[in-house]
Amino acid sequence: MLIDKLHLENFRSHTMNDYVFSSGINAIIGPNGSGKTSIVEAISLIASGHSFKGAEDKELVRRGANYLNIEATTIKGKIATKVKINVVNGQKRVYIDGTAIKRLSELIEVLNVVTFEPKEVGLLQGAPRLRRKFLDFAISKSSPFYLAKLQEYDKLLSERNKILKEDEIDETHLNIVTDLLIKASQPICEMREKYVKALNACLGKVYSRIDSSKKNPKIVYEPFVKVSDAFLIEAKTAFKDALTNDLAKKVTSIGPQKDDFLITLNGENVATYGSQGENRIAIIALKLASHQVVTSREEKPVVILDDVLSELDDVHKDKLLTYLKTIDQVFITATHLKKKDDAVHIIDLTK
Ligand SMILES: Nc1ncnc2c1ncn2[C@@H]1O[C@H](COP(=O)(O)OP(=O)(O)O)[C@@H](O)[C@H]1O
Ligand SMILES: [Mg+2]
Repeated sequence: MLIDKLHLENFRSHTMNDYVFSSGINAIIGPNGSGKTSIVEAISLIASGHSFKGAEDKELVRRGANYLNIEATTIKGKIATKVKINVVNGQKRVYIDGTAIKRLSELIEVLNVVTFEPKEVGLLQGAPRLRRKFLDFAISKSSPFYLAKLQEYDKLLSERNKILKEDEIDETHLNIVTDLLIKASQPICEMREKYVKALNACLGKVYSRIDSSKKNPKIVYEPFVKVSDAFLIEAKTAFKDALTNDLAKKVTSIGPQKDDFLITLNGENVATYGSQGENRIAIIALKLASHQVVTSREEKPVVILDDVLSELDDVHKDKLLTYLKTIDQVFITATHLKKKDDAVHIIDLTK
């Protein structure tokens, strides 16, 4: 799976630009503000319909213009597909080979990306919500079942929280909803556990390719109760134990909505013990491991690393570039590249 051509019209600072990419490493080079991030942002839009920066559609339209147009050709196997996204008067329309799509999730069949952007350096040290989002996003991409279970759980959670806020609580109703909530939590925790296990199977190898410290990285998933055959029984006990607290606080205090994971290096939590550099490398390795974990029917995603190189020392930079050469298609953005490398396709925005 790769992206071959990209046409940007009134997208952020790009008035009208066309790019042709190659397989392997594409390095987008230019000074600050030259539109590098915007290009990879447009690629992420082709893959998901959304900006990875979380920007609203109208922010993407070039100031002073009243529409934007993005056109891309993607290639999967030998089949080329044309994707078109336009935003007119704040209204977004997405077309695959000329046909308007109903759901943005249809784009995943055309292009799948794994992105790393500068603000994600806080992934391990920031709020647990960010790490849950990483897991949920990664698992949902390959499993509509997981996404459906998450939505079902969220609905039940809102219902339970509503009951907890009532002046006179209907105990029977609370028990029924609690039981349903516990049942809905099981596949979520099981699939998170399974995904983390799959990531762990790749993480060490990836980490050792980009860091020579020989430290052993591990992702430790922390579900609200251990994933095992006794999950339902233990979850019931946990909810019973939490009930007094839930009633006092009028909110559900346990469940997958509180799950977290951490990464350890030789058994020590990177978020609390690791250097900034180790945090950065661990997150890059995590992202690259997630690139490796794809189900057999899926194609490997395109990797986007926005502004990663500038933050790394020369040794890590070289090691990372060597590793990236093994990936089908990669986009990196940088203000400059130190050495000329024939294996890197350069898109120079100053020319
Ligand atoms: N909707 C928009 N219209 C016009 N310019 C924009 C818009 N959104 C962002 N920009 C401009 O684009 C430039 C940033 O582009 P960006 O892709 O982040 O650059 P780089 O990654 O090369 O530093 C900034 O100068 C910003 O002001
Ligand atoms: Mg940038």
